[in-house]
Amino acid sequence: MLYTPIKFRNVELKNRWVMSPMCMYSCENGMANDFHFVHYGSRSQGGTGLIMVEATGVEPQGRITNHCMGIWNDQQAEELKKIVDFVHARSESKIGIQLAHAGRKGSTWNNIQIPVEEGWETVAPSGIPYHPSERIPHVLTVDEIREQVQNFKDAARRAVKAGFDIVEIHGAHGYLIHQFLSPLSNIRTDEYGGSFENRSRFLVEIVDAVNEVLNENTALFVRISGTEYAENGWNIDDSAELAKVLKEHSVDLVDVSSGGNIHGAKIPVFDGYQVPFSSQVRKEAGVRTGAVGLITKVEQAEEILEKEDADLIFIAREILRNPYIAVQGSFEMKADCFFPHQYTRAKISS
Ligand SMILES: Cc1cc2nc3c(=O)[nH]c(=O)nc-3n(C[C@H](O)[C@H](O)[C@H](O)COP(=O)(O)O)c2cc1C
Repeated sequence: MLYTPIKFRNVELKNRWVMSPMCMYSCENGMANDFHFVHYGSRSQGGTGLIMVEATGVEPQGRITNHCMGIWNDQQAEELKKIVDFVHARSESKIGIQLAHAGRKGSTWNNIQIPVEEGWETVAPSGIPYHPSERIPHVLTVDEIREQVQNFKDAARRAVKAGFDIVEIHGAHGYLIHQFLSPLSNIRTDEYGGSFENRSRFLVEIVDAVNEVLNENTALFVRISGTEYAENGWNIDDSAELAKVLKEHSVDLVDVSSGGNIHGAKIPVFDGYQVPFSSQVRKEAGVRTGAVGLITKVEQAEEILEKEDADLIFIAREILRNPYIAVQGSFEMKADCFFPHQYTRAKISS
């Protein structure tokens, strides 16, 4: 299964390995640079089916730190296009970008909030900081919420222009969209708070706005936190319900992670610990899903796919250790995978 193709709209991935989005905190003014070119380019040489560029701010205040990636202007998109063009010209990988807004978790360094003068005033659905020691975030007005939806749409338009094959909306890990979804961080009383439908409205509006600028050559993924591990918080049943809605709104895959919204939440971590969330969302919503979290071995990834717990395997830390995990796995499984022609003498043939 790992080395069978899969199609989202017109975008065909050659295999099921996805480089999970990972912030590298290495930009100035949100601009990609040589580091990112080599970092993402090398994963394409390793045969990865899909490379997902890290959480990328849709506005400057949408970043987690001053060194996060951005796509709020055309110049940033032009730098990213160089990476996209390389991946398309020199490999069989596809490349996506994760569009993000950090909300109340922005203006930090090393996970610690930095002063407004060095960072910025954070925003959120309600005036509840992530940690009690942090500043109370500015509560977004309805007009400001609409501006944020527009920011995601503009960012997606730039991503399409840069040639990305996939746009992923970051709705997980306690960032702005997740803050809206959770009744623990969203206590609004207007149409963006209260009921499940109201708390999901911000995400659904972003999905619809982004879809207006996508086409058949750019598919749409959404990353969610399956659960936030907190009593009365966002849970896996909510996620399955949300996934049904997302499917109706032409989302092609739900990438199921977990946690991030509740400081100090106890997370039971073990190999493949988030796979059951992907499995439940996939089965209940009938939507394609990605599994992520401590998936490090080829057989483990294959088993997840064979059990139909997910359609794609997102790997993060393991692909930082080993950019060639996809092609190496193909040698093990005697399957076909892209390997640079320049490296042919090193190929272990199937
Ligand atoms: C350095 C680093 C940066 C990360 N940045 C992001 C990010 O930008 N967006 C995101 O959704 N998840 C991010 N994550 C989470 C990973 O995508 C992944 O979900 C998590 O690490 C679990 O997978 P793993 O066990 O294979 O590492 C990051 C993880 C790491 C280690």
